Amino acid sequence: MATGFANQASVALELARARADRHRAALLDERERIAADLHDHVIQRLFASGLSLQALAATLGPGPAADRVLGTVDDLDTTITQIRTAIFQLQQVPSATPRGLRARLLDVVADVTPALGFDPAVRFAGLIDTLPDAASHDLLAVLREALTNTARHAQATAVEVAIIATARRLTVEVRDDGVGIGDTGRRSGLAHLQHRAERHGGTLDLGPPETGSGDPAGTRLTWSIPLGEADLDQLA
Ligand SMILES: Nc1ncnc2c1ncn2[C@@H]1O[C@H](COP(=O)(O)OP(=O)(O)O)[C@@H](O)[C@H]1O
Ligand SMILES: [Mg+2]
Repeated sequence: MATGFANQASVALELARARADRHRAALLDERERIAADLHDHVIQRLFASGLSLQALAATLGPGPAADRVLGTVDDLDTTITQIRTAIFQLQQVPSATPRGLRARLLDVVADVTPALGFDPAVRFAGLIDTLPDAASHDLLAVLREALTNTARHAQATAVEVAIIATARRLTVEVRDDGVGIGDTGRRSGLAHLQHRAERHGGTLDLGPPETGSGDPAGTRLTWSIPLGEADLDQLA
């Protein structure tokens, strides 16, 4: 019954989050448009004005008049720099409301999706947004590395991500249907994931996914750490 309730609650959270995401998307579209206008029109005009003033200063020859004009050119340059900074800030995701962990995990998925060439299937279970900071931080890193590996090495056509938090354990599983991991000698990203697991007293496990069809193809990465008191002991 508790599981049923948790699932209901997580559906409700998901819906609320989808609504917030739509609102955010509309806001970002508007910012995008303003940033593009500033960049394409305002900066270009200021730049052109600066150039013609510079040409004017050259015809004036050295003297106080030319100095005034060149001073104005400097002001225009400063203004352009300020506008560029404003454009950069407009393009940042609004940070007034801190992003929940689920949203940040989905950001990671969205980052890697172009490299994959298809959308990963993502499943959440349990109370993801209330994980301790240290676990959240590592979870984000693990997801990014696992999906990046799939994009770089697997030649997969599908990826499934499952992120499951219970009161006592956090597990992330990433399965792809690619070429399989084989016996790789050199390991860098995976070594870091192993280290990130061990730090929490957890494990990194790699192998072929159990497909049920009898012919294992692809890669399954399972990263799992204990939560709760065990984790607190580690951090103390
Ligand atoms: N999903 C995957 N499918 C196939 N091969 C993989 C996958 N993930 C990792 N590998 C193999 O394991 C090796 C080690 O991975 P990693 O430690 O992340 O290093 P890197 O990604 O820098 O090569 C990769 O070079 C690749 O050969
Ligand atoms: Mg890697």
